[in-house]
Amino acid sequence: MILPKSIIVPVAVVALTVATPASAAPQSMPTSAPADLSKTARLQVADTAVDRYQILSKDEDFVFDFGKSGIPFANRKTFPALTGYGTSFSLGSLPACGMAFLHLHPRATELFALTSGHVHTEMVPEGNVLDSNKKQRVIQTDLYPGMMTIFPAGSFHTQVNPDCEPANFSAALTAEDFGISMVADQTFSLTDDIIAGTFGQSIAGEDIERVRGAIPGATLIRVEECLKKCGIQKR
Ligand SMILES: *[C@@H]1O[C@H](CO)[C@@H](O)[C@H](O)[C@H]1NC(C)=O
Repeated sequence: MILPKSIIVPVAVVALTVATPASAAPQSMPTSAPADLSKTARLQVADTAVDRYQILSKDEDFVFDFGKSGIPFANRKTFPALTGYGTSFSLGSLPACGMAFLHLHPRATELFALTSGHVHTEMVPEGNVLDSNKKQRVIQTDLYPGMMTIFPAGSFHTQVNPDCEPANFSAALTAEDFGISMVADQTFSLTDDIIAGTFGQSIAGEDIERVRGAIPGATLIRVEECLKKCGIQKR
């Protein structure tokens, strides 16, 4: 319904008069969380989504600059404006011969899309997802610009750039705080007895320590063979 202007104006005046009586104590705003809390923390305790806009008072609060920040992902902490919307985003480049080390996101499904280059992905879905030989199914894809894959929350996955040029990607995730777990590193953080049992006693003592020491701590590694093929020096 559209009201003529002459009706709207008096109503608005009345509303303002009621909301701000001269005797009122200073208004306690619903968003007045202690100022020493981070912006993200204050956004999390805001009473409503509308109140969150008072904490994000500048238009710049709604911009995340991947180039300037040097951070390849915007989550609730790096980009507070995401708070309350259950999503996050990553924009980055997988260097020539680069491999994202085997990982999973404990709280988010990832949509991974390529804008340039070529990326091979491998993903291990949850248990009981079997192939035609009744073995654990492993889903492999080869992505080129304009193509996308999905890594369901909790699935182990890795992305490899097998080519000599960088591959640019973007990724949307279904949580503000998607999180990352490094499968090999974390598995080998267990005690030796548990590891020996887990691997059917095929590995013990010094071998466990050797494997533990060999697992790269980095989330991104460079594939040796590929570097040689491309004539790239390992930095
Ligand atoms: C890949 O992204 C970088 C910035 O991260 C950009 O400089 C470059 O032009 C992009 N490459 C292609 C082919 O789009």
